[in-house]
Amino acid sequence: MKKLTLPVLIAVIATFLVIGVMWAKEHTVVLESKYGKVEFAHQKHGSLKCQECHHTLKEGEESAKPCSECHKAGADVDAKKAFHTTCRDCHKETAKGPQKCKECHQK
Ligand code: HEC
Ligand code: HEC
Ligand code: HEC
Ligand code: HEC
Repeated sequence: MKKLTLPVLIAVIATFLVIGVMWAKEHTVVLESKYGKVEFAHQKHGSLKCQECHHTLKEGEESAKPCSECHKAGADVDAKKAFHTTCRDCHKETAKGPQKCKECHQK
């Protein structure tokens, strides 16, 4: 019996990882902000590694904490700074994706 449990466990974990990746590839999250909500579509960013944004995820890990759990108001890097650095800077550097305020922030 003991020999079976590890492979079974690995299979279960692997299944969740695959579902996690498939889910993320089709998933849009809405980020609320005082300046207007921002829609972020994972499916438009499918070629990026999860860790490019979820920088605290370990390799192979698929569940993600909301950024704002750590990047709160008053933190060294608050949510605005964390998102503008991650999102806007890449769009500027690659000249792809929205770079102007109103292209991201919808009222
Ligand atoms: C370009 C940046 C970026 C990439 C790449 C990215 N994510 Fe996300 N992900 C986000 C943001 C932003 C959120 C919303 C976080 C928040 O609510 O603060 C999020 C949320 C999530 C959530 C939680 C969603 C919810 O509704 O609470 C999961 C799970 C997740 N991502 C998994 C993944 C996985 C798996 C990958 C890789 C296949 C990935 N993400 C790649 C930016 C990204
Ligand atoms: C588990 C906590 C945690 C989560 C979740 C988290 N971060 Fe961070 N992040 C940190 C810490 C700690 C730092 C270091 C700066 C500090 O002390 O505030 C940091 C730094 C950053 C920086 C600054 C990097 C630099 O070079 O200055 C950015 C940008 C950033 N995070 C974006 C994000 C984004 C976007 C998400 C969600 C997709 C996210 N973080 C999720 C803890 C977290
Ligand atoms: C490492 C680079 C990179 C990062 C990080 C990144 N993006 Fe993007 N983003 C892109 C590229 C490239 C496109 C263009 C994709 C396309 O046209 O299919 C894009 C497109 C978009 C679009 C337009 C989608 C559409 O429907 O045309 C939105 C909105 C967006 N990004 C929001 C965000 C937000 C919010 C974040 C941070 C949570 C973020 N992006 C982080 C590279 C990035
Ligand atoms: C690439 C997308 C993007 C662009 C471009 C962008 N922002 Fe943001 N901004 C965000 C995201 C994502 C957040 C974080 C939302 C959250 O708090 O969950 C944010 C947060 C903010 C906040 C903090 C709101 C709050 O609730 O504390 C302000 C203010 C803001 N942005 C203003 C601007 C202005 C002004 C511009 C243009 C100069 C701009 N943004 C351009 C994505 C963007």
